[in-house]
Amino acid sequence: MADYTANLTVMTAAARKAARGLRRDFGEVENLLVSVKGVSDFVSKADIKAEQTIREELTRARPAYGWLGEESEPVEGSDPRRRWIVDPLDGTTNFLHGLPHWAISIAMEHKGEVVAGVIYDPIKDELFSAEKGGGAWMNGQRIRVSRRRDLSECLFATGIPFGAKKTLGRMTKDLIALMPACAGVRRLGSAALDLAYVAAGRYDGYWERELQPWDIAAGLVIVREAGGYVTDMDGGSDILGRGDLMVANPDVHPKLMKTVG
Ligand code: IPD
Ligand code: CA
Ligand code: CA
Repeated sequence: MADYTANLTVMTAAARKAARGLRRDFGEVENLLVSVKGVSDFVSKADIKAEQTIREELTRARPAYGWLGEESEPVEGSDPRRRWIVDPLDGTTNFLHGLPHWAISIAMEHKGEVVAGVIYDPIKDELFSAEKGGGAWMNGQRIRVSRRRDLSECLFATGIPFGAKKTLGRMTKDLIALMPACAGVRRLGSAALDLAYVAAGRYDGYWERELQPWDIAAGLVIVREAGGYVTDMDGGSDILGRGDLMVANPDVHPKLMKTVG
């Protein structure tokens, strides 16, 4: 088994460094909320700055790796088997509105598989991480998916399509089918934290469509290592390619799949 621990150390340091800037900028957002235009320009600069910080840190440590980040052009590395997949700020709408629920997501892919992931929520100071074969962790404590089996007791997360997204009709059907059968559905606005929370057993499952690889790459390995079952919305494994996913504890996943999708 390959050892990805050294990479996890590099990823964690990069996330913490970018978090310092984002935390400061988030403090400024409140002062800027009076001017909507001002605040969105400011947040977009904060976002780009965070990606630059992460990129500098990761590239300094692993110059040969490729790069896929939300805020810059993808780069093929001199080592074509390894790349970083990074969302410097997941939950931008929350950030923009002064809502303290957003995260940094950093994944490492090796031969097409995500093998290490870090999701850091700087406001709550919660750092979720995993490497393939090494279990999932939050701030040094082992985390696992929930053990609930009965759909009626389960709390789920999802993302509701907005803007130019096409799947609002399907989501509406999903909610009509699922809501009467479960304990609740949340839409907190950060796919990375939705995945981290399934891994930590806070949610029993999560599904969403029309996502990008950087929204979910780190979360995939964290949920898997926490014992969760991870598929695309048809039960297959092409999650990053399709951009849709369903994750849940292994007892609940088939029930969720039967109810939505
Ligand atoms: C968004 C968040 C959100 C999800 C959206 C994503 P961003 O990422 O993860 O929860 O529903 O589809 O685009 O834009 O805040 O990085
Ligand atoms: Ca995102
Ligand atoms: Ca983002």
